[in-house]
Amino acid sequence: MLSIDPTKKISFSRHICEGDLVIVYERHDNMKAVKVSQESVLQNRFGVFKHSDWIGKPFGSKVFSNKGGFIYLLAPTPELWTLVLSHRTQILYIADISFVIMYLEIVPGCLVLESGTGSGSLTTSLARAVAPTGHVYTFDFHEERAASAREDFEKTGISSLVTVGVRDIQGEGFPDEFSGLADSVFLDLPQPWLAIPSAGKMLKPDGVLCSFSPCIEQVQRACDSLRSNFTDLRTFEVLLRTYEVRDEGNLGSLPGKKRQRSSKGSIVLENSSSPIVMARPCSEAKGHTGYLTFARLKCLSL
Ligand SMILES: C[S@@+](CC[C@H](N)C(=O)[O-])C[C@H]1O[C@@H](n2cnc3c(N)ncnc32)[C@H](O)[C@@H]1O
Repeated sequence: MLSIDPTKKISFSRHICEGDLVIVYERHDNMKAVKVSQESVLQNRFGVFKHSDWIGKPFGSKVFSNKGGFIYLLAPTPELWTLVLSHRTQILYIADISFVIMYLEIVPGCLVLESGTGSGSLTTSLARAVAPTGHVYTFDFHEERAASAREDFEKTGISSLVTVGVRDIQGEGFPDEFSGLADSVFLDLPQPWLAIPSAGKMLKPDGVLCSFSPCIEQVQRACDSLRSNFTDLRTFEVLLRTYEVRDEGNLGSLPGKKRQRSSKGSIVLENSSSPIVMARPCSEAKGHTGYLTFARLKCLSL
């Protein structure tokens, strides 16, 4: 997924090789991850696609089946991986992930602690954000889930940036070896308040913690626990609105059109004869995912 050699720039312009993971894109809501193997074929409603035709092509290529159908072969970025990974748990999606990375101030070289690992959706983006010289240590108490996450990180090429540990973080806290070393800590746990005292010990002075919880009661208890050692507590709910935009012809150039917003949020272009819908919010857009609470470790007064 990533070039992890610090002397090289992160680049997705390379060519597809035997053994690579590619994201096969039919349309935005139909994608899957496929491992390229010289002898294999991919069969779908558009026909049969030979992997051997893919090898040597740059990522992003449009390739054709025996029946003239086509797909695109995309590089497995964290954004796309989040959409195709196998859901072993609830996962974080792009809107929350981008907000978390920004508010946790994660940059190349950071040391990040995370629990639980879950399906590794967030971990994959954390890994890219800390690359090439940082590291993510992620913990889950569920052995099989941790093992599957490790396999996924191998597949996506980020295993040198991530270490997966099996540990009950609510019961035992993070390992002492990380005391005072973490730039940021992320918690997606059912009872985050049990892990917050340990997270505080792990953070560098003024390091930032984020706790993700689906219920406001969890947020309230987490905030109670945060108040003793943290400052600048903020809770957000990231609500994303996606639009379907349709081109109904060259309307922009027609005289006498007016832009209006209807009661359901659609943007319409209207003239005296017929209103034409140009853009409307997608009906399947996801609403509430959870609450993100951020807090900064209080600095020592010298
Ligand atoms: C909702 S999932 C995390 C999803 C993850 N953020 C993602 O984006 O894929 C929560 C995970 O926390 C783990 N977990 C729950 N309690 C735990 C504990 N006490 N210690 C460590 N992991 C725990 C669960 O096994 C589960 O895999």
